[in-house]
Amino acid sequence: MQYTEGNTTRPCSRNVVRVSWLKMADSSSSSKPEVKPSAEQGAASGAGASDEGSSSKKEEAEGIQCEGAIGGAIGAGRKTRAAADSDEEDGDAGYEDEDDDDGAYDDEEDKEGFMKMLQNFLMTKLHIGGAEDAPKVLDEVTVDGIVKYIQSGQCKNIITMAGAGISTSAGIPDFRTPGSGLYSNLEKYNLPCPEAIFDIEYFKSNPKPFFVLAKELYPGAFNPTPSHWFIRLLHEKGLLLRHYTQNVDTLEHVAGLPAEKIVEAHGTFRTSHCLHCRKEYSQEWMKDEIFKDNIPTCLDCSGVVKPDIVFFRESLPPRFFMLTQVDFPKCDLLIILGTSLTVQPFASLIDNVPSTCPRLLVNREKAGSLDPMMALLQGMGGGGGLALDSARNTRDVALLGDCDDGCCKLAELLGWKEDLQGFLTSKK
Ligand code: OAD
Ligand code: ZN
Repeated sequence: MQYTEGNTTRPCSRNVVRVSWLKMADSSSSSKPEVKPSAEQGAASGAGASDEGSSSKKEEAEGIQCEGAIGGAIGAGRKTRAAADSDEEDGDAGYEDEDDDDGAYDDEEDKEGFMKMLQNFLMTKLHIGGAEDAPKVLDEVTVDGIVKYIQSGQCKNIITMAGAGISTSAGIPDFRTPGSGLYSNLEKYNLPCPEAIFDIEYFKSNPKPFFVLAKELYPGAFNPTPSHWFIRLLHEKGLLLRHYTQNVDTLEHVAGLPAEKIVEAHGTFRTSHCLHCRKEYSQEWMKDEIFKDNIPTCLDCSGVVKPDIVFFRESLPPRFFMLTQVDFPKCDLLIILGTSLTVQPFASLIDNVPSTCPRLLVNREKAGSLDPMMALLQGMGGGGGLALDSARNTRDVALLGDCDDGCCKLAELLGWKEDLQGFLTSKK
């Protein structure tokens, strides 16, 4: 949530680079959930500038730091251009950007063409950014390459990282999809900004909206999706080192994944604690309170009791930090499913695997990608992220579309179609 402050220090004169540096600079800085401003979100920020303005007074009054980056359309085609525009609207108009004047980045295609040209030039003339140095794990950087790798026996430790996209087909909305995402549908709560509903300071001052929403979305009424069953299948095949999820819907448990295989990075609804005296309460107790439309209060001290899901500005569970350190260096394949990779520190986990470890993104859209300029700078010690569009890419693959379709396709290619079907029909 600090990136807007970060905009005041400008390491570079090009917007393209500046946005990315900020994104990378923020990415490892906090152990508390923060929204990372992807270039796409920059676009949304520009589109939603008036909302941002209208909310800022409320934010001031309530002491909430809101992103202002959510709520506008997320248009992949206008990311860096619109991000640049939004910088100007953020009071950055006096900041000189030579690209604005010469129209070099009039559209995305021009920019991509220019980037490729620059990249080729640097690769051939200066030997910067070539793909020659990284040892290859994949025969081909495609879904088939990933499948062959899994079948080779060399890939023993798979980590899955998931977000709300693996549960949308169960009827649970994600957060940021324009229109259907939770953050587009919170008007009735009159929040200073959508994320306030999960902000600990806002919750302390006004817990009601959260509990109204919790009743609506209470876990238990939903069934696991084929994506959850695919993850269970990886476990049954002896390949799953760990499943890291940002979801609090507990559907991994319902799909029968053992608790020791799951890291619930953003906490869980299964336990709750009094914010004042820390007395613990059970899921049943909390559910009862929520369904009675009560604001759950502690039987000992009358403090508000909150489910143990991680709010913005709260720390992630110690288990997250303990296991990420042990697991990620051992990872042979990272599968990222249904997440926009915008919330830190979770999003940066993708950079904690070994530098040759293949990474497969299964999502409706590209996420966690390097900006083209960052991709170029990677060879000069640039930051992390998926190198899906980089000439240096030897390991990152995107399987774009619905998670469930992607997981079914993977199961089929791996020869596990019947195993998956077995789970889906018996739901065991
Ligand atoms: P987001 O809503 O940010 O991103 C969901 C991603 O999944 C988007 O890229 C969607 O396009 C994609 N998606 C949605 N449905 C899909 C489907 N059926 N198949 C494939 N892709 C699909 O959700 P998260 O990344 O999980 O944190 O959000 C991360 C965190 O932000 C949450 O844990 C929550 C939220 O604020 C806290 O509240 C602390
Ligand atoms: Zn208490």
